[in-house]
Amino acid sequence: MKQAMNGEWLLGLALIATTMPTVTADLTTTISSTTNWGTWEGFGVSLAWWAKAFGTRTDLADIFFSTKSTTYNGSSVPGIGLTIARYNAGACSWNTYNGSSMVVSPDMITSRQMDSFWLDWASTSPSSSSWSWSVDANQRNMLSLAKARGANIFELFSNSPTWWMCINHNPSGSNGGSSNNLQSWNYDQHAVYLATIAEYAASNWGVSFQSVEAFNEPVSAWWNGETGTQEGCHFDVSTQATVIGDLRTELNSRGLSSTLIAASDENTYDLAISTWNSLGSTATGKVDRINVHGYQYTGGRRDTLYSLASSAGKRLWNSEYGESDATGQELVTNLLLDFRWLHPTAWVYWQAIDGGGWGLIDGDNDDLTLGAVSQKYYALAQFARHIRPGMQILDGGSNYTVAAYDSSAQKLVIVAANWGSAQYLNFDLSSFSSPGVSGALVPRWNTQVGSGDQYASYSDTYMSGSKFWSYFPTGAVQTFEVSNVSL
Ligand SMILES: *[C@@H]1O[C@H](CO)[C@@H](O)[C@H](O)[C@H]1NC(C)=O
Ligand SMILES: *[C@@H]1O[C@H](CO)[C@@H](O)[C@H](O)[C@H]1NC(C)=O
Ligand SMILES: *[C@@H]1O[C@H](CO)[C@@H](O)[C@H](O)[C@H]1NC(C)=O
Repeated sequence: MKQAMNGEWLLGLALIATTMPTVTADLTTTISSTTNWGTWEGFGVSLAWWAKAFGTRTDLADIFFSTKSTTYNGSSVPGIGLTIARYNAGACSWNTYNGSSMVVSPDMITSRQMDSFWLDWASTSPSSSSWSWSVDANQRNMLSLAKARGANIFELFSNSPTWWMCINHNPSGSNGGSSNNLQSWNYDQHAVYLATIAEYAASNWGVSFQSVEAFNEPVSAWWNGETGTQEGCHFDVSTQATVIGDLRTELNSRGLSSTLIAASDENTYDLAISTWNSLGSTATGKVDRINVHGYQYTGGRRDTLYSLASSAGKRLWNSEYGESDATGQELVTNLLLDFRWLHPTAWVYWQAIDGGGWGLIDGDNDDLTLGAVSQKYYALAQFARHIRPGMQILDGGSNYTVAAYDSSAQKLVIVAANWGSAQYLNFDLSSFSSPGVSGALVPRWNTQVGSGDQYASYSDTYMSGSKFWSYFPTGAVQTFEVSNVSL
């Protein structure tokens, strides 16, 4: 038991025990100084669909893309400091060309129809009237607001090829959902579309996309144009392989040979594994980063996907995560599992603004109404404000802990959560050559999932030799910063 280490602490415990009902156990986790799970690239968010709705709101840009405090509905909100934005290349336009126009699912949700820059198939030239660069102003605006606040990694991604490239002209998917919806004579056009946007953005928006992703959950069979509520398109794995090759060629021919290709944004870890294993070496050789979505939550073989990526020398991102648990508990649980088993170098939330518990801030992208900042927002802030780009991710020693090391500041960041009974969590830094200074303050921040503390800061925790500890009520998520640490 921790308390036996210090006489004063024992007295304190007697007091605490009378006021805190369940101090039942404590746990010790040992932070490893020798792991290197990669250099952190950042936390991020996708811009579809919330930025189409709210892309002119500078207060929201401040909240999501800066770390300063912003007044929102009368309260001060600490910025979450996201540094990655995923820009969605839309698939919708409302023009008629040669008698053809977009087919829309009867269940389509308007806020999820994203503008396509390429209006018809008459010309591939971006300066021709087949292209409109004035559309999608709100999403483009949020992209530039994000950049102005320090976001520095941008990805261009597609949920569906533009409607006229699709077999049924419906950007919500094929009829039935389980078959390819990109016409075979348009495989290369889909690549032309994305490469042209990347080239145009570099020249005209001041945005250099680090990577381009042509698919979204492509092997899933739910992209059904007859019932869909959003853009989506099924691609079988061999079609993905063809489009990946086309995309490499089209990027290269536009002077974008250093633009990375990411694939395949499958829905789960296990689907990412099976797609990767079937893509074939020609295509995998052209993929620079494996993107996977986190919708398998606590399930799936994160560890196997990491092994595949690292043995192939590929980067790995959790490029899309979301759920309806506004308390933050699911987010924290799954993010911690990602750090410990998937080892992504970036982690990207799906909708910053949404209803039903999905948003970091509650809101309605159709009615254009905004609600409260979710407790999930504060839970994510415990990570995103402290685990910053350039830090080395370490093994926190347990499924409830992550650690990150800032070598230039000689600072160790630890984030941990407690889902058990209220207890002390002890952090053992004895593997570090310099584990901080005994007696030194360890600044601490706390968010209580559900309700309670929202990123509250405390100055009450001190190093004791090479250890420190903190009391965690059930559902507490805490962040610590230890100074003067050397690996
Ligand atoms: C326009 O449609 C007609 C009739 O379907 C077709 O023969 C022709 O090739 C189309 N032209 C273009 C430019 O797509
Ligand atoms: C705004 O703040 C007021 C006062 O705290 C609160 O009653 C109201 O619910 C908040 N509105 C939103 C949309 O969060
Ligand atoms: C930690 O998570 C892994 C992966 O989900 C799981 O296999 C393992 O049982 C967990 N360990 C504990 C102690 O819960």
